[in-house]
Amino acid sequence: MSAVLPDGEPVPPDGALPPAALGTLARQPFGIYVHVPFCLTRCGYCDFNTYTAAELAGGVSRESYAELVRSEIRLARRVLGAVNLPVATVFFGGGTPTVLAPSDLGKILATIAMEFGLAPAAEVTAEANPETVGRRSLDALWEHGINRMSFGMQSAAPNVLAVLDRVHTPGRAVACVAWARAAGFSRVSLDLIYGAPGETDQDWAHTVQTAVAAGPDHISAYGLIVEPGTRLSARIGRGELAAPDDDAMAERYLAADDTFRAHGLTWYEISNWAAGETARCQHNMGYWTDADWWGIGPGAHSHIGGTRWWNVKHPAAYATRLAEGVSPGHARESLTADQRLLEQVMLRTRLVSGCPLSLLPAAGRAAAWRAVAAGLADPGAYQAGRVVLTRRGRLLADAVIRDLSG
Ligand SMILES: C[S@@+](CC[C@H](N)C(=O)[O-])C[C@H]1O[C@@H](n2cnc3c(N)ncnc32)[C@H](O)[C@@H]1O
Ligand code: SF4
Repeated sequence: MSAVLPDGEPVPPDGALPPAALGTLARQPFGIYVHVPFCLTRCGYCDFNTYTAAELAGGVSRESYAELVRSEIRLARRVLGAVNLPVATVFFGGGTPTVLAPSDLGKILATIAMEFGLAPAAEVTAEANPETVGRRSLDALWEHGINRMSFGMQSAAPNVLAVLDRVHTPGRAVACVAWARAAGFSRVSLDLIYGAPGETDQDWAHTVQTAVAAGPDHISAYGLIVEPGTRLSARIGRGELAAPDDDAMAERYLAADDTFRAHGLTWYEISNWAAGETARCQHNMGYWTDADWWGIGPGAHSHIGGTRWWNVKHPAAYATRLAEGVSPGHARESLTADQRLLEQVMLRTRLVSGCPLSLLPAAGRAAAWRAVAAGLADPGAYQAGRVVLTRRGRLLADAVIRDLSG
């Protein structure tokens, strides 16, 4: 979640949604995202809405945060009304959710279950920075109802971890996977980053091998984005570090895809690989397939039936709003049918299931055929009425999607 919030129309003080948005509730899966805006240290490449204790300087505390989250959950229940809306997925993201006590995450989950109910086999994920968890805390997270862990491994190369300002050792994420398995987690994911300054092909091959050998059932691999305003961006600007190289990034993507596939992890979204359909992140699938979700916490984004809104960014402003009994929503927008369709084209084309040709505008259908002719989209899928990217198409996804959007 980026730190920059867009403009929009105001959210009413009680957070009420337009009747049109509520009209389709419960027709698609409903998820809850809980943003935890705390980190022990700030990684130089990251511009997420997150704060170290020093940055918050005595404002909102980690200890009181679960209570704030619980009051927004109750507000969500009031806004959404009495409709039966069991929660299919919960995602504790950040920041670093595991800087909160496992019992705090458990209390938040219990409040969600009390207000909405959890769907059978609901997916409950927590992200964790490897140095914030150990054998005992993973046991506790499992006992408190978290059933999927996602560890920020990033790299197995010490030089890369150093340039990314990561404070854990290369082996820590691997140990986390083993501790999580021992605690009972069958669903464990690792996040990797490729293309950092100074990373070699060998560093990346070693990272990918180490990650698959740890035995996760899911891996996310992201090309490093140099976010404006970060320490990394300043260092690159001063010439201290080299900017990521597009050709090297493309090669690393393909190398990772080969190794993941050889170990039974197949792509289902451009940056995500899983050991079969049941290992896919259901919560993220909701974001990509126009489902409904409520984002709790400062700066969190929500989407219900074509209305999107986003909360005030700073934890102190967020706490003040909730203490006054006012929605923490900063602004919102209602998407037109055309905007919603366009967004679906952009997101679904990134999935292995692809984008139905029926969603494309006329110009986009012509572009789909050109993508097939250029080897960027699969001919068989096209015959069956969908645009599915080939391996080369995945490398050029942004350009293909621009063309498909008409
Ligand atoms: C909220 S963090 C995961 C949990 C925890 N905070 C951590 O870093 O271990 C989400 C993921 O976003 C990715 N990420 C963050 N900033 C990025 C950037 N500038 N470029 C590429 N990936 C980034 C990292 O892989 C990170 O693991
Ligand atoms: S630990 Fe994760 S969320 Fe926190 S600064 Fe680093 S990458 Fe960003």
